[in-house]
Amino acid sequence: MCGIIGYVGAKEVVPIIVDGLKKLEYRGYDSAGIAVFEEGKINRRRVKGKIAELEKSLNEEPLKGHYGVGHTRWATHGRPSEENAHPHQDCTGSLVVVHNGIIENYLQLKKRLQQEGHTFQTETDTEVIAHLIEGYYENSLEQAVQQALQELEGDFAIAAVSVKDPEKIVAAKMGPPAVVGIGENEYFVCSDLNPLITHTKEIVFLEDGEMVVVEPDGARFRDFSGNEVTKTPEHITWNPLMIEKGGFKHFMLKEIFEQPQVVRDTLQGRISLDTGKVFLDEVGMPANRMDAIKKVVIVACGTSYHAGLLGKYFLENMAGIPVDVEYASEYRYSDFILDKEVLVVVISQSGETADSLAALRSIKERGALSLAICNVMNSSIAREANGVLYTHAGPEIGVAATKTFSAQMAALALLAIYLGQMRGNLDPKESLTFIQELQRIPHKMEIILDRAKSIEELALRFVPFSHFLYLGRWVSFPVALEGALKLKEISYIHAEGYPGGEMKHGPIALIDDLMPTMVVVPKDRVYDKILSNISEVKTRIGYVIAVAFDEDEDIKDKVEDVIPVPQVHPLFTPFLTTLPLQLFAYYIAAHRGADVDQPRNLAKSVTVE
Ligand code: AGP
Repeated sequence: MCGIIGYVGAKEVVPIIVDGLKKLEYRGYDSAGIAVFEEGKINRRRVKGKIAELEKSLNEEPLKGHYGVGHTRWATHGRPSEENAHPHQDCTGSLVVVHNGIIENYLQLKKRLQQEGHTFQTETDTEVIAHLIEGYYENSLEQAVQQALQELEGDFAIAAVSVKDPEKIVAAKMGPPAVVGIGENEYFVCSDLNPLITHTKEIVFLEDGEMVVVEPDGARFRDFSGNEVTKTPEHITWNPLMIEKGGFKHFMLKEIFEQPQVVRDTLQGRISLDTGKVFLDEVGMPANRMDAIKKVVIVACGTSYHAGLLGKYFLENMAGIPVDVEYASEYRYSDFILDKEVLVVVISQSGETADSLAALRSIKERGALSLAICNVMNSSIAREANGVLYTHAGPEIGVAATKTFSAQMAALALLAIYLGQMRGNLDPKESLTFIQELQRIPHKMEIILDRAKSIEELALRFVPFSHFLYLGRWVSFPVALEGALKLKEISYIHAEGYPGGEMKHGPIALIDDLMPTMVVVPKDRVYDKILSNISEVKTRIGYVIAVAFDEDEDIKDKVEDVIPVPQVHPLFTPFLTTLPLQLFAYYIAAHRGADVDQPRNLAKSVTVE
């Protein structure tokens, strides 16, 4: 997704903006740009390609100034190019705009503006915003932006600056996130927290329909009608080190290795090892409504959807409650039937995924109770659901979700035990057993991570392959899906996840020596069944790698390679069997020279449909 950033204060703006854009890179982009204001002039610099190109250009021809805006563009309207890169300007070049989102009615606006004499330089939807503001401008940027906003349809997080109204940035939010950093006589606007926490921990989260005017002496908040809005800064506890690589080659590898701690952090303060109780009152859900829940519907996208599939197993087993799991992008357009006895759980790491947010909004219209499981504080989905259960994974910079998947599993396990206790489906002894099992998972994860080198050696042998099949049954089926997603999204190898039982219904036709099969085969209720799938593959000269328990001696002579994992409660094997698949995908991609942290065409948060 695009990223916007703006600064106004006493410092040189270029290093702040460029460093900020680097911390927005993980969102995915194809071009970047900056506009700096100095002595009544705007100096723009834009590049097609990486921020390193922009930095190189700025080093060769420096820009000076104390306020300005920057942007990373993920092309939606208009191909990736320098001229389509933001910031975009009006006819006179006296004001610029940066934008994340999509202006749905930009063609009508562009036609009208052209009839009014405006000349356009780009193919983008964003440029219409600059010309709209220009058309309304009299003597106040704030007033011109406010009037322009009335005409925009669609999603936008924008920041505008004008030489006619100097030392001021006007930003507005409708859809994609926008936050305001409150420093010491310096202010920031940005798409997310990461670029700001090295400068300030005091952050204001704009809501939809809100705008802000930041100047060196303060920040003023308004709604789109111009009414003053009171906003209280939140103190952010994330520390800057959390968004550095910490000696790892890629953020993704660092985040894979953070998973034991992330599970500990997500469990911490929410369980009692004495009583076996789970405490989730923090989610802020009315107890009488939770008590009355007769069904759960989980809605999510991508990796979060795979976590949701595991949530189904957890909730049906531990809470004794029926669960449906839906792709948000499908659910939002279906004729779904909900009532007040349904709890809808929306899982979203970023809390900004457009389809998940849209699904939540239509769910709320039908009166169902909604619970968000999010990783980003005050994100849109977290704010709009009736309650929120935060995963404590810290910022996830790699586009491929890893540690947040483990954190989502931990959160879902807690929710399942909590509802199981509330509904009398779990007695304290059973709850304690599950909680003790959860408590042991981080250490078992560490054992697997200590074996990373051997997983890398195995992965190296598969760098040249172009196709992979991942199989699993029961709780290992979502793991197979997730393992396949990891491989395809960072190495660009075609990989499919399938339930083992489906092999006979088609996929077995694919098996040959050019399509290795990864099988997730812990000793659980379907062990014998997945073994038969392995033999089906083997008899067709397929090459099989198995993720299996350390203690499983039988598997060794049934497959070519085994990746061993420690034993754990059958319901919780995904916490352990996923790690080798993350590492396997990572090492293949890294050795293929892929852009692991920012895979092509992908964004960390898909805030547009
Ligand atoms: C997973 O590795 C991808 N980054 C992607 O599938 C992601 O899980 C999906 O876009 C959902 O994102 P969210 O959890 O922020 O809603």
